[in-house]
Amino acid sequence: MERMKICVLKGDGIGPEIVDQALKVLKAVCDASGIKLELDFALLGGIAIDQTGEPLPQQTIDKCKASDAVLLGAVGGEKWDHLPARPEKGLLGIRSALGLYANLRPAKIFPALKTASPLKDSVIGEGVDILVVRELTGGIYFGEHNRKTENGMEIGYDVMQYSTAEVERIAKTAFELARKRNHKVTSVDKANVLEVSRLWRETVIRVHEEYRDVELNHMYVDNASMQLVRNPAQFDVIVTGNMFGDILSDEASMISGSIGMLASASLGVGSLGLYEPIHGSAPDIAGKGIANPLATVLSVAMMLRYTFSLEKEADAIEKAVELSLNHARTPDIKSEDLPVYCTEQMGDFLAKTVRELLA
Ligand code: NAD
Ligand code: IPM
Ligand code: MN
Repeated sequence: MERMKICVLKGDGIGPEIVDQALKVLKAVCDASGIKLELDFALLGGIAIDQTGEPLPQQTIDKCKASDAVLLGAVGGEKWDHLPARPEKGLLGIRSALGLYANLRPAKIFPALKTASPLKDSVIGEGVDILVVRELTGGIYFGEHNRKTENGMEIGYDVMQYSTAEVERIAKTAFELARKRNHKVTSVDKANVLEVSRLWRETVIRVHEEYRDVELNHMYVDNASMQLVRNPAQFDVIVTGNMFGDILSDEASMISGSIGMLASASLGVGSLGLYEPIHGSAPDIAGKGIANPLATVLSVAMMLRYTFSLEKEADAIEKAVELSLNHARTPDIKSEDLPVYCTEQMGDFLAKTVRELLA
């Protein structure tokens, strides 16, 4: 690989702080591997509203499409919450415009973070390594959202729908990924109540016929959220719809010690992927220099792996993250015996470590 072109969407709140650290690490990888790194910057979310009047300017879509991959911080903040076209709408829009229907959210417990997990050792057992495969461009997020008035009463509604084609492709993604892991898929739905879930379940069962080597089980989402804290080690790949995946991945993130640890890759049919932490813009800590950049840095590792097939370089980033956990911590995962680092110091340490690992 000679060059990579990345479109960077820093977004709002802690977005710029954490993305800057991830860029330090990406630059370190490119320097060490002789790859020419081309960065393009575009606006998404609240900052885009402030500068252009809309959360997802056409120019941002064009710049993303003209890149090999997209690195995103986070969007949103109280300042824009009252607007009809909120920052979050821009985020949903870019995922949809790029056709990124598969959102991969790995939740694992790094050995050094066992004590940061709120779960007891006896519950964690041998360790937790879950991959949440969240459908990202359909479901209730993309059905009709509206209000109506009946008998003088205002009613708000959001339509949840999935087509068989949408379920088939995300189920295939989950089974394919399970083949590279522990060959187990748990499909999470609410088929005891929702018609959309009954179609989801039937379709997953049908797709499974081509993946007999993978074990499949089904779980209602309420049970799944309980099982995640009762016995997280039972899960390998979890495949689920847009909203359930959003909720369960935040829950899974805390098992790993902090939401600041969870990366994600959003993929579609081509090689273009969007990489972002699963957390939000964290307005409560924005500008304080205490945000954990590891989720965003780990998202860069996912980018190198999924878009660029740079395994060695992705491994180096993950190794650097592991080493950092025994060296210093941001406050969200602080440990009595280790120094507390600010966001910038953590980025500098990771970039230096990656350079050493790839030298
Ligand atoms: P959040 O994920 O931003 O924050 C939840 C809690 O986790 C906060 O206490 C925050 O300080 C903490 N946290 C999050 N990331 C952290 C990090 N890297 N290091 C340390 N602590 C971290 O969720 P929220 O408060 O519900 O939402 C805030 C805003 O972000 C809202 O506008 C929401 O819509 C938006 N949001 C955006 C995305 C995204 O851009 N992908 C995701 C979730 C929420
Ligand atoms: C996430 C976020 C977004 C989602 C919001 C901000 C639209 O919570 O990326 O997890 O629900 O997808
Ligand atoms: Mn979320």
